[in-house]
Amino acid sequence: MTTDEFHLRATSFGGVADVYERTRPGYPDDAVRWLTGDRPVRVLDLGAGTGKLTRSLIAASHDVVAVDPSELMLAQLRAALPDVDARAGSAERLPLDDATVDVVTAGQAYHWFDPATALPEIARVLRPGGRLGLVWNLRDDSVGWVDELWSMFGDHEGRRADDPEVIPPFGPVEQRTFRHEQRLDRDGLLGLVASRSYVAILAAPERDELLGRVGTLYDRVAGPDGVVLPYLTHCFRSTRA
Ligand SMILES: C[S@@+](CC[C@H](N)C(=O)[O-])C[C@H]1O[C@@H](n2cnc3c(N)ncnc32)[C@H](O)[C@@H]1O
Repeated sequence: MTTDEFHLRATSFGGVADVYERTRPGYPDDAVRWLTGDRPVRVLDLGAGTGKLTRSLIAASHDVVAVDPSELMLAQLRAALPDVDARAGSAERLPLDDATVDVVTAGQAYHWFDPATALPEIARVLRPGGRLGLVWNLRDDSVGWVDELWSMFGDHEGRRADDPEVIPPFGPVEQRTFRHEQRLDRDGLLGLVASRSYVAILAAPERDELLGRVGTLYDRVAGPDGVVLPYLTHCFRSTRA
């Protein structure tokens, strides 16, 4: 990916904030517990977007501050979670004081950060002994039509998340995978595809052609209750010294 395309895609989410909120999956509770621990703590949800992961953190009784650079994504988060402290900011420049959070989470977002700048910034806001937790819902190809769906997008839909490389003061990275699934109707599946950053930046004719093929696949495989899309939820955690 060129630097221009990276920037275009990293900033594409605001344009699809509404469909993102309606169609993207949340995260399994056991994965969230593995990332944050059992005890309620102060959590920074970084790259929080419309608040998909934020919701699980609140449900687990954590005290959450949500940060994202996109005002349009944050508008969706504020509408859904009006009591959450939601701030504009980026991983490279966090709007938080030093040593003020116990855990920093990033759902489906860490790959948009510049680790060389973001990791020292995350270390700055974490208390000593605090934790960085990263999570991605990724394709599960064990079901035939799902493999067919994601194969339409070549290598844009990875099968596994690369082990994130961290630097001191972060310690070794632990990895664990959880299962997750999402029930979708036709509009839901089309929206889920339309909210992908590589689809959001396509010209209209190309995007429509792609969504047409996804619609045809849906019509072939859906039952009366739509489809169930399985995911493998890849989680990584590392403790700050
Ligand atoms: C795929 S969305 C994930 C949103 C949410 N965490 C979720 O789980 O659905 C990626 C988010 O990362 C945000 N983002 C992009 N670059 C970022 C950066 N440098 N720092 C923080 N967030 C960033 C985008 O604005 C977008 O809301």
